[in-house]
Amino acid sequence: MERTFVMVKPDAVQRGLIGEIIKRLEIKGFKLLGLKMIRINEELARRHYAEHEGKPFFEELVSFITSGPAVAMVWEGNNVIASVRSLMGDTDPVKAAPGTIRGDLGASMSRNVIHGSDGPEAAEREINLFFKETEILEYEKTLNSWIF
Ligand code: RTP
Ligand code: MG
Repeated sequence: MERTFVMVKPDAVQRGLIGEIIKRLEIKGFKLLGLKMIRINEELARRHYAEHEGKPFFEELVSFITSGPAVAMVWEGNNVIASVRSLMGDTDPVKAAPGTIRGDLGASMSRNVIHGSDGPEAAEREINLFFKETEILEYEKTLNSWIF
């Protein structure tokens, strides 16, 4: 089954939106395999967002993502990578559709409350960047046959 990496960004932690964001993924039926609160350091931020190095917004992005605690998670489910991206909505909360996490909760391009891996390679890379194997739990949810 597919896995993805999701982060509640520091703005959402400060705004008390951890529960709301986790709830959106839980009620969709996805399975939470790993969860931890972390203060991302500069090195980890630069590695996580390496694809954006050199872009005009990169330094501000690193500064924001390291500015306070975040919540890192691994979620599992059928097509969970694309599905979480669609639940998140557009990167720019102004363009994100109402009903999406960023459409409902995001404030601006640089304060958009959630990160989700944008493809299978990114998901694998990011999960390995943030989690040890022992921090990812495998278990059965008895409801799965009603969801998948
Ligand atoms: P994320 O990686 O944070 O989940 O967001 P995303 O895939 O939707 O967007 P991405 O293109 O990967 O950009 C990463 C973060 O950089 C900021 N950004 N600013 N000013 C700009 O043009 C611009 N473009 C991107 C956003 O905060 C975005 O979440
Ligand atoms: Mg991205």
